[in-house]
Amino acid sequence: MEKRLMHAVQYNAYGGGPNALKQVEVPIPSPNKDEILIKMEAASINPLDWKIQKRILWPILPAKFPYIPCMDVAGEVIEVGKGVTKFKAGDKVVGLTSPFSGGGLAEFAVIKESVTALRPPEISASEFAGLPVAGITALQALSQSIGIKLDGSGERKNILVTAASGGVGHYAVQLAKLGNAHVTATCGARNIEFVKSLGADEVIDYRTPEGAALKSPSGKKYDAVIHCANEFPWSVFEPNLSMNAKVVDMSPTFGSVISFALKKLTFPKKQLVPWFLLPNCRDLQYLVDLVKQGKLRTIIDSKYPLTKAADGWAKSIDGHATGKIIFEFE
Ligand SMILES: NC(=O)c1ccc[n+]([C@@H]2O[C@H](COP(=O)([O-])OP(=O)(O)OC[C@H]3O[C@@H](n4cnc5c(N)ncnc54)[C@H](OP(=O)(O)O)[C@@H]3O)[C@@H](O)[C@H]2O)c1
Repeated sequence: MEKRLMHAVQYNAYGGGPNALKQVEVPIPSPNKDEILIKMEAASINPLDWKIQKRILWPILPAKFPYIPCMDVAGEVIEVGKGVTKFKAGDKVVGLTSPFSGGGLAEFAVIKESVTALRPPEISASEFAGLPVAGITALQALSQSIGIKLDGSGERKNILVTAASGGVGHYAVQLAKLGNAHVTATCGARNIEFVKSLGADEVIDYRTPEGAALKSPSGKKYDAVIHCANEFPWSVFEPNLSMNAKVVDMSPTFGSVISFALKKLTFPKKQLVPWFLLPNCRDLQYLVDLVKQGKLRTIIDSKYPLTKAADGWAKSIDGHATGKIIFEFE
């Protein structure tokens, strides 16, 4: 039988940036075992999406071309595959597509039940579409790597969040405050008031000498850094760190992973820790519930319809979004 078609955006080879994104019509995918088919309401882009197009994960990703990019998706369940027990048609959900198959920039997408969370229908899909990659990354870095207890019951720590105005950073500031941390944040001058409104105690403009040196205005040493900005030499972090501090590096390179492994052998007190998110429905549901309770906000930089996906893609590559870039579907 002829499969029904949907509108989607895909690219056919590495490189080419936003110009390589093509508007196409392709068959609506079918959910396999443990998978859910959703009608898309919103998606969000993460730097990883365009880094994959730039070959950063060659030859692993994309697994094949053509490739429909974007992993963060929110929509309504249309059909569930065999073995799915937690969701049914009509549920409003948020989740992640597999980076191997891709699929977020399309009218319908397939997601695994294990990386899907139920979201409240009364709040718009766009408020949740930013959570999967950026939110889970911020949550796991704070709770698993640094040991912050999000109910605020743990020891008070001094945390630095770099690029606090971005997707990961703006969630990290809010979550660190829930965990009762003292938060110093870096961002551009235009975002200082915004980052303070997220709860940061001290904010430094990254384009000033103090910002470039990551110096806390009150002279505090950091117990941990959620490092979302691009690479900084270790010599910039080192004088600002307390004993046993961790710098959690969101953009690890092959070299930094190797150097981390080698340094581990010498048991250094201050560590640069490469970080990779591990998507799971428990952490995602936790974040969704925080949004529902009004304890966590997604700040939306800009919204694009699917027909203007290339503009949102270009905006993300530009690197100056405040919060999340969202694609909305009719
Ligand atoms: N390891 C993982 O599992 C994982 C998961 C998610 C993301 N990441 C990585 O984490 C990084 C951040 O991701 P994101 O989604 O937050 O990026 P993003 O939203 O694109 O970040 C944009 C923001 O960063 C600010 N910024 C840029 N350079 C800065 C600097 N030197 N100091 C302070 N602020 C700066 C920009 O401010 P201005 O406009 O003022 O310049 C802008 O507001 C990316 O490299 C991404 O690939 C890793």
